[in-house]
Amino acid sequence: MVRPRLGNMPVSEDEGVDTEDLISVGFSQLGSESQWRSANTKSIQKALNIDNGFLLEFNNARQKQENQIKAIRGFISQRVDYIAFSPVTEEGWDVVLGEAKDAGIPVILVDRRINTNDMSLYTCWIGTDTVAEGTRAGKWLEEYLASKKKANAMINIVVLQGTLGSTAQLGRSVGFNSVAAMHPGWRILEEASADFTASKGKEVMADFIKKYGKIDVVVSQNDDMTFGAVAAMQEAGINVGENGVVIISFDGVKEALKLVQQGIINVDLECNPEQGEYIVDIIHRLENGEKVDRSNVVDEQVFTKDNVDRFIYDRSY
Ligand code: AHR
Repeated sequence: MVRPRLGNMPVSEDEGVDTEDLISVGFSQLGSESQWRSANTKSIQKALNIDNGFLLEFNNARQKQENQIKAIRGFISQRVDYIAFSPVTEEGWDVVLGEAKDAGIPVILVDRRINTNDMSLYTCWIGTDTVAEGTRAGKWLEEYLASKKKANAMINIVVLQGTLGSTAQLGRSVGFNSVAAMHPGWRILEEASADFTASKGKEVMADFIKKYGKIDVVVSQNDDMTFGAVAAMQEAGINVGENGVVIISFDGVKEALKLVQQGIINVDLECNPEQGEYIVDIIHRLENGEKVDRSNVVDEQVFTKDNVDRFIYDRSY
């Protein structure tokens, strides 16, 4: 397929590569807030490369929706073949995606979802099932407490939430809370956002420690916030993990899996960042005129001390 040259796209200096033959993709990444996000960016940049037939225009929005909207408008004016992006929060995309639709550019959502009534604004979504992750976390706690003969005990829980209004925050909260609602003894003392970062995780956890005398369980909606929360508890002289406050985390980055191995994190619900190859596969199928599924969920695991050794050594992120 011969493609028109794009107005502002760089021409590759790689010998023998004619950019007219490449599939151009504008990708707006929401930021670089976590180790997970860096792994996700790497996966996308590795998969959508020139050797694979792609010309990738990558933009980091630094957690701001307005930067993502600006980047998407830039991709539209460059007439890229596809726009892909990971929306920082779910609301507020209709206008800019309407512009992409009018320009005839297919849009692929990656990692997070959007809230819209107009399903024609995007072609498909690739990501993880965050409601299932939250539910798995609740179910794990249920079984853990039963194994300690505490199935009906009063349990004080605090929740470190991710970026409010993001798919990962909304889904994990809905999933975990649906299990918590079945347990009258589970008291969620407070849920507060720490924006998926280690520094805020430490700050919010330190605040919880000051406010609440007895915390039994910390649900931290990503590993980076968990690193901060664990540091805050250790600095306050509080035992964590298998010998103390139960720590439930999400993502499963290598540094966190090491803490699972050491019994510091009790359970880590995987959120798989390796989504680049899925995007490539979807675009190839669209190029061949095939239909693609609207929702494409990537595979995930649950990591505990019992199984973590099997996974940790191969982990590249
Ligand atoms: O949307 C996925 C979440 O975003 C990951 O859990 C988190 O680490 C990231 O920042």
